[in-house]
Amino acid sequence: MLRSHWTSRVGFILASAGGAVGLGNIWRFPYMTGENGGSIFILIYLLCVFFLGLPLIISEVIIGKSSQLNPVGAFKKLSGDKVMWQAPGYIGVLTAFIILPFYSVVSGWCLAFLYKSITGVFQSGMTFEQIGSIFKQLTASHFEQAIFLGLFVLMTILIVFAGVQKGLQRWSEILMPLLFLIIIILIVYGLTLSGAKEGIRFLFEPNPQKLTHKSIMDAMGQCFFSLSLGMGAMLTYGSYMERREKAISSCFWVVIMDTGIAILAGLAIFTIIFTYTNEPAQGPGLVFVVLPNIFSQMTGGSFFAVLFFTLLFFAAITSAISLLEVISAFFIDQYNLNRSHAAFIFGIIIFLIAIGCVYSGDYFDFLDKLSTNYLLPIGGLLISLFAGWKLDQVIVKDEFNGKWYSVLYYPWLISVRFICPLLIVVVFLHTHRII
Ligand code: PHE
Repeated sequence: MLRSHWTSRVGFILASAGGAVGLGNIWRFPYMTGENGGSIFILIYLLCVFFLGLPLIISEVIIGKSSQLNPVGAFKKLSGDKVMWQAPGYIGVLTAFIILPFYSVVSGWCLAFLYKSITGVFQSGMTFEQIGSIFKQLTASHFEQAIFLGLFVLMTILIVFAGVQKGLQRWSEILMPLLFLIIIILIVYGLTLSGAKEGIRFLFEPNPQKLTHKSIMDAMGQCFFSLSLGMGAMLTYGSYMERREKAISSCFWVVIMDTGIAILAGLAIFTIIFTYTNEPAQGPGLVFVVLPNIFSQMTGGSFFAVLFFTLLFFAAITSAISLLEVISAFFIDQYNLNRSHAAFIFGIIIFLIAIGCVYSGDYFDFLDKLSTNYLLPIGGLLISLFAGWKLDQVIVKDEFNGKWYSVLYYPWLISVRFICPLLIVVVFLHTHRII
């Protein structure tokens, strides 16, 4: 079967940035930052992005582009069918089966809150408890969650079903600029509020005394999660790149957009939060409890609530399609399934796994931690070892050749050979108090 390709370089960049920019940036990054002391977390996060994220995204995209295959097929082909090197491919597909269910549950909450904010459920004059109870009621109602979850998964299936150009690329090209516009509106608004200074200080003023073992692991996990690394999502999107297209500068764009949007979202959220409360560390409920509360007190709050949950929903769906695409690409390439069957069958399976998360919060946390703190870093470790030690370097050199970034080839090689593996292993052992 002929492989589809992105129709342009911008198409690849927007689709990949769409896959990367998601709940990780707008829901997870702010609450992680809040829980880990603000600016110090951001600093470690940026170091992770530079030393781990950048070399790894380049590795994944090159592996995908040069093989023109899904993660399993790619490692098979490029390793000369060595069984050992197929592990990162299989781990990647497995990880997609783990992330997508809990991701879809949270995305379902976004959709539910979008619906509630449009229909005026959050009214001014409601107490903190009343608004907090709306989130509690939602997470306690299996039926309501299942409906919004089902709706979200169905939309994801339809986009993946429509294919690389008419589904993935087209929707990313529509939704990403809108997402950016919404963030800018929220930031401009946030900066006019009285908590703006405090929000900025919280995000950018150094506070090393807040550094803990957990923050370093959290920052690394967040880097993998936010950039969609370690599980073949970027690899799969790279595999839809034309061979003649250069990959490296596009990777830079994706990293800049993903990191930029996380920080901008943090800025929008914390300037708003510090205007109304002094409590930034609110965990996963930050955007579903604290923000709706604030929106209900603000002038024009219902408008901003609709805007904010639209933003979350757009971010979520462009990422969910990249996760379902990893699974579909695997079954399409390796088992000759056609796209429509792959999207529908595996979309439904994901829905069924996700229903488990709806019933059990522990199961939800387990899937989140297992994938973000373990599977993604392990996948990342194997991918960097593969790119550094096994991949034919002629392919990589060719990518770096003849452009401003050609000087970066050796730094990249040193990173994937030594720095990334060492960092991942050390952070891992350190967090678990082994060293
Ligand atoms: N990067 C996405 C986000 O930030 C999540 C994701 C992880 C998507 C892994 C695909 C693969 O929300």
